[in-house]
Formats: sequence, C-alpha cells, structure tokens
Amino acid sequence: MSSALHQNLPWVEKYRPQNLDEVYGQQETVQTIRKFARDGRIPHLLFYGPPGSGKTSTIIALAREIYGKSYKNMVLELNASDDRGIDVVRDRIKNFASTRQIFSSGFKLIILDEADAMTNTAQNALRRIIEKYTKNTRFCILANYAHKLNPALMSRCTRFRFAPLKDSAIEERINAVIKEEKLEVPEETEKCLVQLSKGDMRKALNVLQACSAALDKDGDEIIPDMIYECVGAPRPKSIEVVLDAIMKNDWTDAYATMEKILKTEGLALIDLIGGFVDVLEQYELRPATRTEMLQGLSDIEYGISKGGSDKIQSTAVIGCIKSALDNEA
Ligand SMILES: Nc1ncnc2c1ncn2[C@@H]1O[C@H](COP(=O)(O)OP(=O)(O)OP(=O)(O)O)[C@@H](O)[C@H]1O
Ligand SMILES: [Mg+2]
Repeated sequence: MSSALHQNLPWVEKYRPQNLDEVYGQQETVQTIRKFARDGRIPHLLFYGPPGSGKTSTIIALAREIYGKSYKNMVLELNASDDRGIDVVRDRIKNFASTRQIFSSGFKLIILDEADAMTNTAQNALRRIIEKYTKNTRFCILANYAHKLNPALMSRCTRFRFAPLKDSAIEERINAVIKEEKLEVPEETEKCLVQLSKGDMRKALNVLQACSAALDKDGDEIIPDMIYECVGAPRPKSIEVVLDAIMKNDWTDAYATMEKILKTEGLALIDLIGGFVDVLEQYELRPATRTEMLQGLSDIEYGISKGGSDKIQSTAVIGCIKSALDNEA
C-alpha cells in the first residue's frame, strides 16, 4: 500500500489488527482459536457480540495467520445479508468450495458476516450448505445477536461471545493511535472518549479521527467538549444543571432549563436520558430510589422510541426524577 493511500484511510481500517496479538481485550477467545489453529482442528465458528468489539478483525487476523500469502485463494468473505438473497450466497459458496486447490492443502474458510440479518428460510438453507461442504471448508458466522440465529445453525458451530471491550482495552489501543498520529490529547479528554465509546472500539477510533480532523492546526489539543459534541452526548455539567433545577425549582423552571440545554447543545431527549443514567450512576442513592428512577427513565426511553410526543416525554422525565428524589429526602 502506498504511504499516501495509507494516510487517507479511515483509522478503523488503518488500525485494524494485522494479527491476533493486535486484537485487544479478547484474550480468552484469541487463545482458544489459536489453539484450534495450531492443532489444525478448526471447528465451524460463531462469533457474536455488539458492534466494534473485534469479531471481523479477529477472524481476518486468524485467517492471515493460518494462510499467509494464500489468503486470497483460501478465504471467502461474504455478507450473508446480501439483498440478492440466499441463492447468490449459495452459488458463491458452491463455486468457492468446490474449486480444488492445486498448491495448498487443508480446508478453506468462508466468513459469513451479518448472519443475523438473514431470514429464517435463508438460515435453514445455510445449515444444509454448511453440512454439504464440511469436508474441505470451515465456516465462521458473525452476528450481533445470537437470539436472531436459528438454533440448528448455532448448534453446528463453536460459539464465542465478544463482550463490549473493557475501558482498559480501548484505552490501550487509543494510546497507541494517539502516539502514532502525534496527537495532543489530555488525560481528561481521553477518559471521556473511552467512557463514551461504551466498549465499541470502532466508535472510539471514529470519534478520535473526527475530532483530530476538526482541529485548526496540528498540535492543538483535543478537549472533552469536542468529544461530547462529536458523540452527541450531553456534558456532565449540563446534566448537573438540569438535575439541580429539577430538585430545587418549580416545575416550569425545570422544564425551561431542560429545553434550553436540549436546544443549545443540539441534543435529542433520548441522549439526555442516557446522560442522566450515566451521571446518576455516580450518585449515592437508596436502592429503591435508584430502581424507581431507572425504571421510569427506561419506560420513557421506550415511549420515545415508539414515537411518543417530545413534550410529554420531557415532562415525564422531570416528573420521574423529581418523584424518585423526593422519596429520598
Ligand atoms: N478487539 C479489538 N482490538 C483492536 N481493534 C479493534 C478491536 N475491536 C475493534 N477494533 C477496531 O474497530 C474496527 C471495527 O472492528 P470490527 O470490524 O472487528 O468490529 P465487529 O465486532 O466486527 O463489529 P460489527 O458487529 O459492527 O461488524 C476495527 O477496524 C479495529 O480497528
Ligand atoms: Mg464485523
């Protein structure tokens, strides 16, 4: 890859792990699949877990370690949710799996990304396909949600859950990128980036890249406010202001304060609710108060996602927090 091209790559690609050692925070999984590979006994694999936790990166890194230069001939990457349907997927698998290898021995690998977006019928077809080609092919199925996969399909694979990445894993990776890109990122900014990424390394890298692109000149500092803006999350200070107004003032004033912050920070109510949950986590509250408040907020969040009116939902947020905190007093 020419260095100019390398410069322009999104960081999620530029810093995609090149080998299994560069996959952070998934040690147990990496250890186990490495052992499979060393013994030459790879089962069909299923990786599932939230976005940006390293599923695609891990299987590609594994395939690179196994196949080296013959990667291109031995690995087929397919998007299982290809809207042209299971027939296209089946044809490509058939073509790939049935061409004989002249120079290399061993099995080929088919990576099926986004398998949970397939219809049930397609998943049923897939399990027959997997069985048919098991002699010289291994499948690795990638999905976000295991519950959307057909149990019969799952039972043909060895399952690995990719948990959201720990803060320490994201921090370690981000530190390396900061060094490599020669960025000025104070500790406070980094802490807030790691926290807001919520275990999603892709999000962390994308936000960092966006913020660094927004700097006026090289060498300027990235400050926490830039991170909040980029993620679309409320600043903890603003949350405190709203909470304060809810606790101290009358209802109209609390509502006005909340509306003002939503407007000036360009936030949606649902972002604000996320902010309340994060900030209230650090408050000392009686368990009953916390339960009441979280239950209330989660009902409101659900209401918003179902299209509830913004004004009614905002007033409900105030009501829910106020009544829970009044109980505390
Ligand atoms: N565990 C990890 N270690 C190092 N980098 C990671 C890790 N997880 C994700 N990344 C970074 O985030 C990017 C996206 O990761 P990846 O494509 O592996 O996520 P995924 O789990 O497959 O997500 P999705 O479910 O959205 O497909 C990668 O290019 C890589 O730079
Ligand atoms: Mg992926």
